[in-house]
Amino acid sequence: MNAAANPARPDERDLPDFNGLAALYRWMEYATFGPWLCWCRCAFLPELKRSRRALVLGDGDGRFTARLLATNAMVQMDAVDASASMLRSLLRRTESHAYRVSVYCADACRWQAGSPPYDLIVTHFFLDCLTTAEVRNLAKRLRGAIAPGALWLVSEFAVPQNRFGRWIARPVVAVLYQAFGLLTGLKVRSLPDHVASLRDAGFTLEKRRTWLGGLLVSQLWSAATEKEPIPAAQSPGP
Ligand SMILES: C[S@@+](CC[C@H](N)C(=O)[O-])C[C@H]1O[C@@H](n2cnc3c(N)ncnc32)[C@H](O)[C@@H]1O
Repeated sequence: MNAAANPARPDERDLPDFNGLAALYRWMEYATFGPWLCWCRCAFLPELKRSRRALVLGDGDGRFTARLLATNAMVQMDAVDASASMLRSLLRRTESHAYRVSVYCADACRWQAGSPPYDLIVTHFFLDCLTTAEVRNLAKRLRGAIAPGALWLVSEFAVPQNRFGRWIARPVVAVLYQAFGLLTGLKVRSLPDHVASLRDAGFTLEKRRTWLGGLLVSQLWSAATEKEPIPAAQSPGP
């Protein structure tokens, strides 16, 4: 493990501690959301076939990393996570592709990109561990570590602006934050505005899908300029 020297805690910042959840994480997810989170993560997997250098932030136990390696035989991946136990699970899960994976036990908000330029960034249910200011800084920093036309795949919880959002999604998100606050010490208590943060950093929303009435959203962003559109791009949803 390229464990930024210390596999126990990456640095002094007050990071959530997911180590105790690594073994249970998958089962907790299935018990609460069934297959929905997995569907959300994998919605745009077929779009990633041309990726060659991927950076995955906070992939936890590595299920998505393993899926991407299995479906794209050419991609090399850097995986950054603050939890050494999560990274160990990721390494076990990706054992058969070990030569294509480098892991870094580090705070993604401070980590210096391992081998830029990346043509793919992946953040599944990770940005919600950060504040809007942190997402904004991260997006700006990553914009400098990617190749032209790079993609950024995001899965997140969301609170739609409707009655379902007010009465169902908002309380569900609040309960999740309470639970993760208790279990990991996560301090964040509300979803960051990752959409504005990515837009302001120069990313363009290309595709979007939602599940469970809009509680879950999967988005494919690109760093394409007008001169470098990604092929077959669709209009974003509302
Ligand atoms: C909610 S889990 C999401 C795991 C997985 N991506 C998924 O889709 O279920 C958040 C993951 O991000 C990691 N994490 C949280 N804050 C981090 C930070 N600042 N830097 C690096 N990793 C972080 C945690 O250790 C954990 O593995």
